[in-house]
Amino acid sequence: MDQGAFTADGCPVEVYRLLPPGDEPGIVHAAVPAGASILELGSGTGRITHALLDLGHPVVAVDDSPEMLAHVRAVKVCSKIEELRLDRVFDVVLLGSHLINTVSAADRAAFLATARAHVAPGGRVLVQRHPPEWFDSVRDAQGGRLGGVDVRLDRVVRDGDLLSAVVRYSAAGRSWSQPFTCRRLDSAALKAALTRAGLVFERWCAEDRTWFSATPE
Ligand SMILES: C[S@@+](CC[C@H](N)C(=O)[O-])C[C@H]1O[C@@H](n2cnc3c(N)ncnc32)[C@H](O)[C@@H]1O
Repeated sequence: MDQGAFTADGCPVEVYRLLPPGDEPGIVHAAVPAGASILELGSGTGRITHALLDLGHPVVAVDDSPEMLAHVRAVKVCSKIEELRLDRVFDVVLLGSHLINTVSAADRAAFLATARAHVAPGGRVLVQRHPPEWFDSVRDAQGGRLGGVDVRLDRVVRDGDLLSAVVRYSAAGRSWSQPFTCRRLDSAALKAALTRAGLVFERWCAEDRTWFSATPE
């Protein structure tokens, strides 16, 4: 069966076209001033971008997948996040998709450096992460239905601070698999990564501590 295009980090483009915006746009909107300009790093197909536009935020969407960006109805830039240097700053920079939990400390530092380079004085970076306790609770077969997409975890393997698994998606008789590995960051590791990027933790933006804001030092 044709599964369509996948991104360099293994995301199936078709799935991100089908997934609903969920609660992420509301969390972001509530955490920032009305009309704040937003740079969204790793926008995918615009699942969150489009909802933020509808909420009144001018958004610039960044992704290194042309196939993902083809679906984005906003100003868009095809670039690796770590290489992005636009000649402007934004009220808000979004680093979503748990990209901060990337395995490599160098990649994490590069993502945060890009975020820091594009945040205006007085602005903030909004980060979505896997909380440390998530790494203990995740189990095979965990998941549910998101819009018309069934989402299940499979092959969960722990190795110290690393967790690997495969996300299995199915919708309308089609199915996709997305393997991933991510790294647990405890509060000391998180603080160290932010400090290194010239950012300071501001506050939690969601009760489950999956989103937080950070401000320029
Ligand atoms: C899990 S998808 C999520 C997309 C979107 N944020 C959403 O929630 O629907 C992650 C996206 O980040 C992009 N991405 C991952 N690493 C990237 C990098 N280093 N530079 C640019 N884009 C990246 C992928 O291409 C993919 O579109």
